[in-house]
Amino acid sequence: MISHSCYAVQPWSLRETELHLDVLPQSESVFALSNGHIGWRGNLDEGEPHGLPGTYLNGVHELHPLPYAEAGYGYPESGQTVINVTNGKIMRLLVDDEPFDVRYGKLRFHERVLDLRTGLLRRVCEWSSPAGCTVRVTSTRLVSFSQRAIAAVAYEVEPLDSNVRVVVQSELVANEQLPQKSGGDPRVAAALEDVLLPEEHFADDMRLRLVHCTERSGLRVGAAADHAVHGPASTRTAGESGDNVARLTVTSELAPGEPLRVEKLVAYGWSGARSLPAVRDQVDAALAGARTKGWQGLVEQQREYLDGFWARADVEVDGDAEIQQAVRFALFHVLQAGARAEKRAIPSKGLTGSGYDGHSFWDSEQFVLPVLTYTSPDSVAEALRWRQETLPAARERARQLGLRGATFPWRTIDGSECSAYWPAGTAAFHVNADIADAVVRYVDATGDVEFERETAVEILVETARLWHSLGHHDHHGAFHFDGVTGPDEYSAVADDNLYTNLMAQQNLRAAADVAERHTEEAAALGVDDEEAAAWRDAADAVAIPFNEALGVHEQSAGFTGHQRWDFASTGTDQYPLMLHFPYFDLYRKQVIKQADLVLALYKRGDAFDAEQKARSFDYYEQLTVRDSSLSACCQAVMAAEVGHLRLAYDYVGEAALMDLEDLESNTRDGLHIASLAGAWIALVAGFGGMRLRRGTLDFSPLLPEQLSGLAFTVQVRGRRLRVALAGTTATYTLLEGEPLELCHCGMLFTLSCGAPRSHQMRRPPPRPEPAPPQGRTPTRRHGGLAAPE
Ligand code: BGC
Repeated sequence: MISHSCYAVQPWSLRETELHLDVLPQSESVFALSNGHIGWRGNLDEGEPHGLPGTYLNGVHELHPLPYAEAGYGYPESGQTVINVTNGKIMRLLVDDEPFDVRYGKLRFHERVLDLRTGLLRRVCEWSSPAGCTVRVTSTRLVSFSQRAIAAVAYEVEPLDSNVRVVVQSELVANEQLPQKSGGDPRVAAALEDVLLPEEHFADDMRLRLVHCTERSGLRVGAAADHAVHGPASTRTAGESGDNVARLTVTSELAPGEPLRVEKLVAYGWSGARSLPAVRDQVDAALAGARTKGWQGLVEQQREYLDGFWARADVEVDGDAEIQQAVRFALFHVLQAGARAEKRAIPSKGLTGSGYDGHSFWDSEQFVLPVLTYTSPDSVAEALRWRQETLPAARERARQLGLRGATFPWRTIDGSECSAYWPAGTAAFHVNADIADAVVRYVDATGDVEFERETAVEILVETARLWHSLGHHDHHGAFHFDGVTGPDEYSAVADDNLYTNLMAQQNLRAAADVAERHTEEAAALGVDDEEAAAWRDAADAVAIPFNEALGVHEQSAGFTGHQRWDFASTGTDQYPLMLHFPYFDLYRKQVIKQADLVLALYKRGDAFDAEQKARSFDYYEQLTVRDSSLSACCQAVMAAEVGHLRLAYDYVGEAALMDLEDLESNTRDGLHIASLAGAWIALVAGFGGMRLRRGTLDFSPLLPEQLSGLAFTVQVRGRRLRVALAGTTATYTLLEGEPLELCHCGMLFTLSCGAPRSHQMRRPPPRPEPAPPQGRTPTRRHGGLAAPE
């Protein structure tokens, strides 16, 4: 995309200077606006043409039966799919008698700019109708971070050469027609038709409202709009509504230099419990709140919110303008995915598209939340409280599987398991330890004791119980987890997946620790000394598969003894492998979809020495095909740690440009939020070498020669810290807060405000770079030039 001539590389914005319909679906994803509660894809104001119309409300879904050719005990019966709710962004325009439609007439000028500092998406175009009448249309959109239920559009039309009669139709539209799924890609969502059942419609001369419900999931969705219209005296307005459309029609006679401006505030609300009058009142109240600010007030609030975010979160990259743009774009979308999700899941696509049916996976806890922990910690607490609220379903699932504690779902919207594919679903138990890890990280990074008492204890205890009941001690005492699937989905139902084992070990220990710190809460959950001691025993005895002959850890027991995949005979057009080869063949060979053991090297770095890390990284690098967008960033982190800086830099590029370059050819279905988060992870944990160890940030920074500088700001324990790498030194500056203890390359020091400290960066000795599988070498990056804005 950004390599397409119509996208400009700029440090603080994404700018499109021509409209190319061949990349329209991708552009709708990259220009999507969201606050984690409402999601508006970057569809054109007039609704058509479109790739995928998309308006989402986090949590709003419909159920559908999951068909099985051969069903089995414990298979989930019901699937969940995110639905396209009432579209409030539509502004149709009639110029004299002709509908404004970029497919007809002539588009003389087009520009869309997503401004990452203001949070506004602005479109300007000049269009001549087939009859030759030229108008300029300017629209600006926002989905408010400050007012969670509110989105807004300011739409302006102005004739450029002659008087013109215009009609603007500002609409709420439910049950839009969706393109049908084509091809067999399981990552594309099923399109459900007419899922919204009309309950109520209303319009007066400025306000509109539609309320619908879903049939099977039993959710009620309300959308309402209010308008402010500014135009010449001839301007008239009229409202009307029907089951699936509520419309404000604005007519006006305009002369050149005389614009018509329609400001539209849109409110959304939904509930699985509230009555029709209650949902109606909810959206009306939200609108009333937005009206007190008005359009301009919302714009100002948006800027203020983002100023605060960037002060805590900015990453500055010197020497590669594309990566600079990409990492800010990534941070913006990660924020959008999680900012106001508030006790809802963060889907793997955020609210930018319907890919993966709008489900949330471990992506959230292992990729998105690590970024938000240091940049927007409140949203992390909310996301984890959502997991806590789903504990009843997770306990029930554990019971159904014959296990103790709680089994969180592999993929879900409402907390119940939706994965119809066992080997890469329920068997991927590591999601439980990933959630526990996110809980521990959040508490460690913030010191939020109240959260620890109210939320962490329960999650850690129930997941520890799961691990203890899932594993077993063998006759030597070693503790094993047999028949589980790790992150690598090309190896399934294996024994002692090392990532799973090490993460479970950490989970068991964290539960025992927290039970000691919060005895009352633990006792209320029935934890006694004996149970906690059993967790510690199991953790201490966790099996660590290691191949002595090769000197590398095993991804799972026996893995290194499997036949190697025949990479030489695999064509580059046969990736992703899962769409071209049967799973049974992938499962029995050494071929890795995504970082698994390499992720263990990063997340449990304390369990390996430097030599083991280097050997294992090199070994697994040759087998990892990166058929998941979650891989490159993990490889970047470990490549940097073991000294393959050039390779790390290439992987930074892949993670950061996943969507801007549409590297997996599915950005149209929504953004890869975990990979976007991975851009930050790759830079901060990779080149910054940042790790959190028991509340202290530990840095082992280095820079590839392609970058002249890298600086990032993080928030930890209520402080704001800036780390800047340039030349051979790393400079630590405390921007805000009490003195802070930090660690640089194993050396502890205390940092105070107004007294920055500089230290030499590490310089690992050069080692020969391992070769990724044939045909899967990442694109070699050449540092870009800084581009002025
Ligand atoms: C990956 C999973 C990931 C899911 C959603 C799959 O392709 O293998 O690890 O959770 O996509 O992003």
